[in-house]
Amino acid sequence: MQIHETAFIVSTYRSYHEDVSKDPYAKLWNNPKTEALIPSILKSISKDEAMLHSLRNRFFYERLKSFFDKNNGGTLINFGSGFSMYQFQMNSNVSTIEIDKEDIIEYKKKKIDDWIKKEKLPFREIVYTAIDFNLKSEKEIIEVLKPLVKNKPIFILIEGVLFFLNKNTISKLFSICNKLQNKGDLIGSVSYLPEIENTNVYQKLLHYFDTNNDTNDAFNHQTIPTSFYQNLIGYSLVEHIDEFELSHKYIPHHTIVNKNEILNENMYILEKK
Ligand SMILES: C[S@@+](CC[C@H](N)C(=O)[O-])C[C@H]1O[C@@H](n2cnc3c(N)ncnc32)[C@H](O)[C@@H]1O
Repeated sequence: MQIHETAFIVSTYRSYHEDVSKDPYAKLWNNPKTEALIPSILKSISKDEAMLHSLRNRFFYERLKSFFDKNNGGTLINFGSGFSMYQFQMNSNVSTIEIDKEDIIEYKKKKIDDWIKKEKLPFREIVYTAIDFNLKSEKEIIEVLKPLVKNKPIFILIEGVLFFLNKNTISKLFSICNKLQNKGDLIGSVSYLPEIENTNVYQKLLHYFDTNNDTNDAFNHQTIPTSFYQNLIGYSLVEHIDEFELSHKYIPHHTIVNKNEILNENMYILEKK
């Protein structure tokens, strides 16, 4: 498995629970190769993975929508954007900067341009930027992004990517946010707590990646304590919730009994001071 395949997988997860994820466009990315992988992932790691990713999408969808509605537009910067489709659910006065590795960015731009042309998607102002966060310096990334931000305020989304990055790269990303954003701007981030390392289900996830890493992609498996967000320079932590709590809110009929038996991710909303 290559890291970019994870973007296809989470997008397919969202398409399986549209009523929860509220993403009607995820299914555009579905393809037989990814769909063939999913049953074995759900079986060997955890059956709740598709639902949990849909809950995560729902949470960020709601936060993005209310931020841009309240501010009458602005810019969404999506770090490690994969096949995320939030931009098509925001009003047309929101512009988006998509950042990911080159292969994802090129493929995504080509497909999206075509779907807009065929009116499968509404037109949105989107800039695609290929950056490998491990390879570019903080200064280089800021020099690329700063001129691209035309509308304020800025919501930066860092969803599903921190797991793959090392600690230095993670600090670099948050320092970049601090230099790009202004008072009142938001970051939405998601990560695992270090405690998850002691759970069976997390060990199964690592085992799955180890045994299916056919490309020698450098997989980190990063976990982050909540104190990292509480102490982040330039930001206040304004919201923290995990997928277990989200399941009670959005899918009370779907019983997840024990939070230690799921890959429970934590979502954070940070406001620039
Ligand atoms: C699991 S996907 C998540 C995609 C999307 N944010 C979502 O939640 O649907 C992880 C994404 O992070 C990107 N990524 C991983 N390492 C990266 C790096 N060093 N630089 C840029 N993007 C990276 C991958 O290419 C992939 O698109």
